[in-house]
Amino acid sequence: MYILGIESSCDETAAAVIEDGEHLRSNVVASQLKTHYKYGGVVPELASREHLRAIVPVVRQALGEAGLNYRDLDAVAVTQGPGLVGSLLVGLTFAKGLALSLDIPLIAVNHIEGHIHAVFLEEKQRGGEIELPALALVVSGGHSHLFVVECPEEGDYRYRLLGKTRDDAAGEAFDKVAKLLGFGYPGGPLIDKMAPYGDASKVKLPLSRMKGNQLDLSFSGLKTAVLRYVRAADMEDEILERRKLFVEGHPTSLEPILEVTPQPTRDLIAAFQSTVIKELLRRATKAADGHDVRSLIVSGGVAANSGLRKEFAKTPLPLYFPSLSLSTDNAAMIAAAAYPAFLRGDFVSDEIMAKPALALA
Ligand code: KG4
Ligand code: ZN
Repeated sequence: MYILGIESSCDETAAAVIEDGEHLRSNVVASQLKTHYKYGGVVPELASREHLRAIVPVVRQALGEAGLNYRDLDAVAVTQGPGLVGSLLVGLTFAKGLALSLDIPLIAVNHIEGHIHAVFLEEKQRGGEIELPALALVVSGGHSHLFVVECPEEGDYRYRLLGKTRDDAAGEAFDKVAKLLGFGYPGGPLIDKMAPYGDASKVKLPLSRMKGNQLDLSFSGLKTAVLRYVRAADMEDEILERRKLFVEGHPTSLEPILEVTPQPTRDLIAAFQSTVIKELLRRATKAADGHDVRSLIVSGGVAANSGLRKEFAKTPLPLYFPSLSLSTDNAAMIAAAAYPAFLRGDFVSDEIMAKPALALA
């Protein structure tokens, strides 16, 4: 039984094939990094154009690597939302056309559910099983959510939202702070690499104070504190120097970046990352304490952060991360999330629309 997954919600065009819901036969991701990095973020119009260019070759490659033909497929799964509408439409339109022409079912997947299923998929591949209910922290460029995941009956996954960000998503905070400091896009992976060169204890940054739901997240205060620090420290010249470095080309090694990043800025970067991690860890810990959960899942692009992985390892619950390649956007997670829907016969018609603000719970 083969499901082709298609993902195009943001700036990655991805296709993957999963056999029998657990064997990853291929996983192709075409990144648009080269198109967007000089703008310091994803430009939606350019993203749609790049998806249009990439979708056919990416799907072909995914089938080729799986050793399959279109006719071997049993279902097509596609991200319906949340995401950029123009980007979603490319994957969705292609998937509809493919399902229609092959006369096979179409399955609509929520991208956030996909991030959670990346972890279930890999645990299944290891022959293990994640004990439910689980607490799932999904942290990426577009969302920062805490859910309880239950599965009262085989394949019937249910999600209860405990808290979410009130302003920026965690990855967005990484990207915005990186941009502010003169680094290219995406900021998360770079801050991750730079953080070990700084001393977080040298810069004091605030944790958020939350009225109301104590399981919500917020990163705007932290971002403002970094901005204030940057202004007070008179960093204009070094920021311009870094910007120049990133406009000229995407540096492939850290050395030239470190050269234009003095120690106090490295300390600021370390402090910023450490504060984001503290923020996430204390909300996740609070959520775990207040709910009957047996395991903790952390997924989404920010789950790739090495500092975060180290700190979260201190939690007492059994902890699950996706591998690095399944932390950031991919289509394996979309095909994986679609498998239970396939078994239930939960198919959609070719009239479904892209849903940029689709919620999971
Ligand atoms: O899941 P993802 O690929 O796309 C969305 O669904 O948004 O996540 C991308 C986000 C970006 O904001 C990126 O900066 C962040 O994940 N990210 C990281 C790391 N790798 C990617 N943030 C911190 N540390 C990383 N190593
Ligand atoms: Zn994502």
